[in-house]
Amino acid sequence: MNDRKVFKAFTALVAALVAVTVVIFVVAQMVTSGLNMNGHKQSMVQNQAAIAARIQPVGEVTVGSTLAVSNLIPAANAADNVGKSTFQSTCMACHGPGIAGAPKFGDKAAWAPHIAKGLPTLYKHALHGFTGKAGTMPAKGGNMALSNADVEAAVRYMVAHGK
Ligand code: HEC
Repeated sequence: MNDRKVFKAFTALVAALVAVTVVIFVVAQMVTSGLNMNGHKQSMVQNQAAIAARIQPVGEVTVGSTLAVSNLIPAANAADNVGKSTFQSTCMACHGPGIAGAPKFGDKAAWAPHIAKGLPTLYKHALHGFTGKAGTMPAKGGNMALSNADVEAAVRYMVAHGK
């Protein structure tokens, strides 16, 4: 080997080392910045969630879950829950404090003349609206997103607590 060949080989070696350094640098950047193979940036939190999802066990053993307990509660109780939640979300605005002439929740004297009409009439008035002596009951309490079943459950809930 003469000097010229040694110099050429040495230059090639340096160039190769520089190339390897650049590759390592780029890979390190990708790993630490959380770039995935699609080139989308992900936060560390997302990465951890994705990893947890990928390595999660196939099955899970749940001891004493609330789901199992609620399955044991009879259907009648579930209907009462619908009535209660509908009452709280919509009807309570007027019937809770008993404002604008609405019979107050739990007030037996106020509910007696209404209950006397019978459930079918109360359903009809709650669903389609009703103007009586005391004021105006808006159809579905003004919440048209409610299903008829929800409204009827709320009527039963209020009637049950007004007897
Ligand atoms: C904006 C106020 C308001 C809201 C909200 C409201 N009500 Fe009423 N409701 C009234 C008023 C006022 C009356 C009394 C009307 C009368 O007798 O003059 C009434 C009366 C009733 C009656 C008795 C009807 C009758 O024929 O005697 C029922 C049943 C009833 N509401 C059910 C409901 C249900 C169920 C909801 C919720 C989905 C609801 N109300 C939400 C104001 C309201």
